[in-house]
Amino acid sequence: MNERFPTLHIVNHPLVQHKLTEMRDKNTSVKDFRTLVSEIAVLLTYEATRDLPLTTKRIETPLCQCEMPTLAGKKMAIVPILRAGLGFEDGILSLIPSARVAHIGMYRDEETLEPHFYFLKYPKDIADRDVLVVDPMLATGGSADMAITKMKELGCKNIKLMILVAAPEGVEYIYKKHPDVEIYCAALDDHLNENGYIVPGLGDAGDRIFGTK
Ligand code: PRP
Ligand code: URA
Repeated sequence: MNERFPTLHIVNHPLVQHKLTEMRDKNTSVKDFRTLVSEIAVLLTYEATRDLPLTTKRIETPLCQCEMPTLAGKKMAIVPILRAGLGFEDGILSLIPSARVAHIGMYRDEETLEPHFYFLKYPKDIADRDVLVVDPMLATGGSADMAITKMKELGCKNIKLMILVAAPEGVEYIYKKHPDVEIYCAALDDHLNENGYIVPGLGDAGDRIFGTK
Protein backbone atom coordinates (compact mmCIF):
# COMPACT_ATOMS: atom_id res chain seq x y z
CA MET A 1 0.00 0.00 0.00
CA ASN A 2 1.17 3.57 -0.76
CA GLU A 3 1.47 6.19 2.03
CA ARG A 4 0.01 9.00 -0.07
CA PHE A 5 -2.83 7.04 -1.67
CA PRO A 6 -4.21 4.20 0.49
CA THR A 7 -5.81 2.43 -2.49
CA LEU A 8 -2.64 2.41 -4.63
CA HIS A 9 -0.44 -0.69 -5.00
CA ILE A 10 2.83 -0.23 -6.87
CA VAL A 11 4.19 -3.49 -8.25
CA ASN A 12 7.95 -2.99 -7.87
CA HIS A 13 9.03 -6.50 -8.88
CA PRO A 14 12.38 -6.31 -10.73
CA LEU A 15 10.97 -7.98 -13.86
CA VAL A 16 8.16 -5.41 -14.02
CA GLN A 17 10.54 -2.50 -13.51
CA HIS A 18 13.00 -3.82 -16.11
CA LYS A 19 10.30 -4.31 -18.74
CA LEU A 20 8.78 -0.90 -18.03
CA THR A 21 12.15 0.80 -18.58
CA GLU A 22 12.39 -0.93 -21.97
CA MET A 23 8.90 0.36 -22.80
CA ARG A 24 9.73 3.93 -21.78
CA ASP A 25 12.72 4.00 -24.15
CA LYS A 26 11.65 5.92 -27.26
CA ASN A 27 13.87 3.67 -29.40
CA THR A 28 11.91 0.51 -28.50
CA SER A 29 10.17 -0.81 -31.63
CA VAL A 30 6.40 -1.25 -31.96
CA LYS A 31 6.91 -5.03 -32.07
CA ASP A 32 8.94 -5.08 -28.84
CA PHE A 33 6.63 -2.59 -27.13
CA ARG A 34 3.64 -4.81 -27.88
CA THR A 35 5.42 -7.91 -26.57
CA LEU A 36 6.47 -6.08 -23.40
CA VAL A 37 3.00 -4.70 -22.66
CA SER A 38 1.58 -8.21 -22.90
CA GLU A 39 4.30 -9.70 -20.66
CA ILE A 40 3.93 -6.97 -18.05
CA ALA A 41 0.14 -7.51 -18.05
CA VAL A 42 0.74 -11.06 -16.80
CA LEU A 43 2.95 -9.84 -13.95
CA LEU A 44 0.52 -7.07 -12.92
CA THR A 45 -2.40 -9.51 -13.03
CA TYR A 46 -0.50 -11.83 -10.69
CA GLU A 47 -0.49 -9.02 -8.09
CA ALA A 48 -3.99 -7.71 -8.79
CA THR A 49 -5.46 -11.19 -8.22
CA ARG A 50 -3.51 -11.92 -5.03
CA ASP A 51 -6.72 -11.86 -2.92
CA LEU A 52 -8.75 -14.28 -5.08
CA PRO A 53 -10.60 -16.61 -2.72
CA LEU A 54 -9.45 -20.20 -2.42
CA THR A 55 -11.30 -23.32 -1.41
CA THR A 56 -9.94 -26.85 -1.25
CA LYS A 57 -10.57 -30.01 -3.20
CA ARG A 58 -9.71 -33.63 -2.62
CA ILE A 59 -7.19 -35.07 -5.06
CA GLU A 60 -4.95 -38.07 -5.26
CA THR A 61 -1.23 -37.57 -5.90
CA PRO A 62 0.88 -40.57 -6.94
CA LEU A 63 1.57 -40.98 -3.21
CA CYS A 64 -1.63 -40.31 -1.27
CA GLN A 65 -5.03 -38.66 -1.05
CA CYS A 66 -5.01 -35.06 0.16
CA GLU A 67 -7.05 -31.87 0.41
CA MET A 68 -5.41 -29.09 -1.65
CA PRO A 69 -6.14 -25.42 -2.50
CA THR A 70 -8.04 -24.47 -5.63
CA LEU A 71 -9.70 -21.25 -6.82
CA ALA A 72 -13.15 -20.79 -5.32
CA GLY A 73 -14.46 -20.06 -8.81
CA LYS A 74 -15.13 -16.35 -8.45
CA LYS A 75 -16.56 -15.01 -11.69
CA MET A 76 -14.45 -12.27 -13.26
CA ALA A 77 -14.69 -9.76 -16.08
CA ILE A 78 -11.86 -7.71 -17.49
CA VAL A 79 -12.67 -4.31 -18.97
CA PRO A 80 -10.01 -3.02 -21.39
CA ILE A 81 -10.40 0.68 -22.20
CA LEU A 82 -9.97 1.00 -25.99
CA ARG A 83 -7.61 1.29 -27.57
CA ALA A 84 -4.54 0.93 -25.40
CA GLY A 85 -6.22 -1.39 -22.87
CA LEU A 86 -6.33 -4.03 -25.63
CA GLY A 87 -2.57 -4.39 -25.19
CA PHE A 88 -3.24 -5.95 -21.76
CA GLU A 89 -6.02 -8.30 -22.87
CA ASP A 90 -4.12 -11.41 -24.05
CA GLY A 91 -1.71 -11.35 -21.10
CA ILE A 92 -4.55 -11.21 -18.58
CA LEU A 93 -6.54 -13.94 -20.33
CA SER A 94 -3.49 -16.21 -20.37
CA LEU A 95 -3.70 -16.24 -16.54
CA ILE A 96 -7.50 -16.09 -16.19
CA PRO A 97 -8.80 -17.87 -19.29
CA SER A 98 -12.38 -18.09 -18.04
CA ALA A 99 -12.75 -14.33 -17.52
CA ARG A 100 -15.35 -12.55 -19.66
CA VAL A 101 -14.36 -9.37 -21.49
CA ALA A 102 -16.26 -6.08 -21.60
CA HIS A 103 -14.82 -3.57 -24.06
CA ILE A 104 -15.33 0.12 -23.40
CA GLY A 105 -14.34 2.66 -26.03
CA MET A 106 -13.28 6.21 -25.25
CA TYR A 107 -10.73 8.71 -26.43
CA ARG A 108 -9.41 11.91 -24.86
CA ASP A 109 -10.09 15.21 -26.56
CA GLU A 110 -6.55 16.49 -27.15
CA GLU A 111 -7.53 20.08 -26.27
CA THR A 112 -9.82 19.69 -23.26
CA LEU A 113 -8.45 16.28 -22.10
CA GLU A 114 -12.10 15.25 -21.50
CA PRO A 115 -12.88 11.60 -22.29
CA HIS A 116 -15.40 10.88 -25.07
CA PHE A 117 -17.32 7.64 -24.85
CA TYR A 118 -18.04 5.70 -28.09
CA PHE A 119 -18.49 1.97 -27.38
CA LEU A 120 -19.58 -0.52 -24.70
CA LYS A 121 -20.21 -4.23 -25.07
CA TYR A 122 -20.38 -6.34 -21.93
CA PRO A 123 -21.45 -9.79 -20.67
CA LYS A 124 -25.10 -9.90 -19.47
CA ASP A 125 -24.14 -11.06 -15.97
CA ILE A 126 -21.45 -8.41 -15.43
CA ALA A 127 -23.12 -7.21 -12.20
CA ASP A 128 -22.34 -10.64 -10.67
CA ARG A 129 -18.68 -10.51 -11.63
CA ASP A 130 -15.54 -9.07 -10.07
CA VAL A 131 -14.35 -6.43 -12.51
CA LEU A 132 -10.81 -5.47 -13.50
CA VAL A 133 -10.73 -2.23 -15.53
CA VAL A 134 -7.45 -2.08 -17.47
CA ASP A 135 -5.58 0.67 -19.30
CA PRO A 136 -1.81 1.25 -19.52
CA MET A 137 -2.09 4.98 -18.71
CA LEU A 138 -3.78 6.90 -15.90
CA ALA A 139 -3.18 10.58 -16.66
CA THR A 140 -5.93 13.01 -15.55
CA GLY A 141 -8.03 10.00 -14.51
CA GLY A 142 -10.98 11.10 -16.66
CA SER A 143 -11.09 7.93 -18.81
CA ALA A 144 -10.72 5.52 -15.89
CA ASP A 145 -13.37 7.44 -13.92
CA MET A 146 -15.81 7.19 -16.82
CA ALA A 147 -15.15 3.44 -17.22
CA ILE A 148 -15.53 2.75 -13.48
CA THR A 149 -18.69 4.88 -13.29
CA LYS A 150 -20.24 2.95 -16.19
CA MET A 151 -19.42 -0.37 -14.50
CA LYS A 152 -21.05 0.88 -11.29
CA GLU A 153 -24.14 1.95 -13.26
CA LEU A 154 -24.33 -1.64 -14.57
CA GLY A 155 -24.42 -2.87 -10.96
CA CYS A 156 -20.78 -3.96 -10.50
CA LYS A 157 -19.70 -3.80 -6.88
CA ASN A 158 -16.19 -5.19 -6.72
CA ILE A 159 -14.03 -3.16 -9.12
CA LYS A 160 -10.23 -2.90 -9.41
CA LEU A 161 -8.18 -0.74 -11.75
CA MET A 162 -4.97 -2.05 -13.35
CA ILE A 163 -2.59 0.48 -14.91
CA LEU A 164 0.99 0.47 -16.15
CA VAL A 165 2.04 4.10 -15.54
CA ALA A 166 0.04 6.45 -13.31
CA ALA A 167 0.31 10.19 -12.73
CA PRO A 168 -0.28 11.45 -9.17
CA GLU A 169 -3.05 13.71 -10.52
CA GLY A 170 -4.94 10.71 -11.92
CA VAL A 171 -4.49 8.56 -8.82
CA GLU A 172 -5.75 11.39 -6.61
CA TYR A 173 -8.77 11.92 -8.85
CA ILE A 174 -9.72 8.23 -8.80
CA TYR A 175 -9.03 7.91 -5.08
CA LYS A 176 -11.35 10.85 -4.32
CA LYS A 177 -14.15 9.68 -6.64
CA HIS A 178 -13.83 5.93 -6.07
CA PRO A 179 -12.22 5.21 -2.68
CA ASP A 180 -13.61 1.66 -2.98
CA VAL A 181 -11.48 0.89 -6.06
CA GLU A 182 -8.00 -0.56 -5.49
CA ILE A 183 -5.46 0.61 -8.08
CA TYR A 184 -2.53 -1.56 -9.24
CA CYS A 185 0.27 0.00 -11.26
CA ALA A 186 3.93 -0.52 -12.15
CA ALA A 187 4.97 3.10 -11.54
CA LEU A 188 3.73 6.34 -10.05
CA ASP A 189 5.40 8.97 -12.23
CA ASP A 190 6.25 12.58 -11.50
CA HIS A 191 3.57 14.79 -13.07
CA LEU A 192 1.41 15.61 -16.08
CA ASN A 193 2.75 18.13 -18.58
CA GLU A 194 0.73 20.99 -20.12
CA ASN A 195 -0.56 18.60 -22.84
CA GLY A 196 -1.81 16.04 -20.33
CA TYR A 197 1.06 13.59 -20.94
CA ILE A 198 2.64 11.70 -18.08
CA VAL A 199 6.28 12.68 -17.35
CA PRO A 200 8.60 10.82 -17.66
CA GLY A 201 5.93 8.41 -18.96
CA LEU A 202 6.28 6.44 -22.17
CA GLY A 203 4.43 8.64 -24.66
CA ASP A 204 1.08 7.75 -26.22
CA ALA A 205 0.47 4.12 -25.26
CA GLY A 206 -2.11 3.47 -28.00
CA ASP A 207 0.16 4.87 -30.72
CA ARG A 208 3.11 2.83 -29.46
CA ILE A 209 1.12 -0.43 -29.28
CA PHE A 210 -0.55 -0.04 -32.66
CA GLY A 211 2.15 1.93 -34.50
CA THR A 212 -0.20 4.76 -35.40
CA LYS A 213 2.34 7.58 -35.23
C1 PRP B 1 -5.07 7.22 -23.41
C2 PRP B 1 -4.91 6.09 -22.42
C3 PRP B 1 -6.07 6.30 -21.49
C4 PRP B 1 -6.20 7.80 -21.45
C5 PRP B 1 -5.62 8.32 -20.16
O1 PRP B 1 -6.02 6.91 -24.35
O2 PRP B 1 -4.87 4.83 -23.01
O3 PRP B 1 -7.26 5.69 -21.93
O4 PRP B 1 -5.45 8.30 -22.57
O5 PRP B 1 -5.82 9.68 -20.04
P1 PRP B 1 -6.75 10.32 -18.91
O6 PRP B 1 -6.39 9.63 -17.63
O7 PRP B 1 -6.34 11.77 -18.93
O8 PRP B 1 -8.18 10.12 -19.30
P2 PRP B 1 -6.36 7.87 -25.58
O9 PRP B 1 -7.45 8.83 -25.21
O10 PRP B 1 -5.09 8.48 -26.11
O11 PRP B 1 -7.01 6.90 -26.64
P3 PRP B 1 -6.37 5.67 -27.43
O12 PRP B 1 -6.16 4.56 -26.42
O13 PRP B 1 -7.42 5.34 -28.41
O14 PRP B 1 -5.07 6.11 -28.05
N1 URA C 1 -2.35 8.83 -22.55
C1 URA C 1 -1.19 8.26 -22.99
O1 URA C 1 -1.22 7.34 -23.83
N2 URA C 1 -0.04 8.72 -22.50
C2 URA C 1 0.04 9.71 -21.59
O2 URA C 1 1.15 10.07 -21.17
C3 URA C 1 -1.18 10.29 -21.15
C4 URA C 1 -2.35 9.83 -21.64
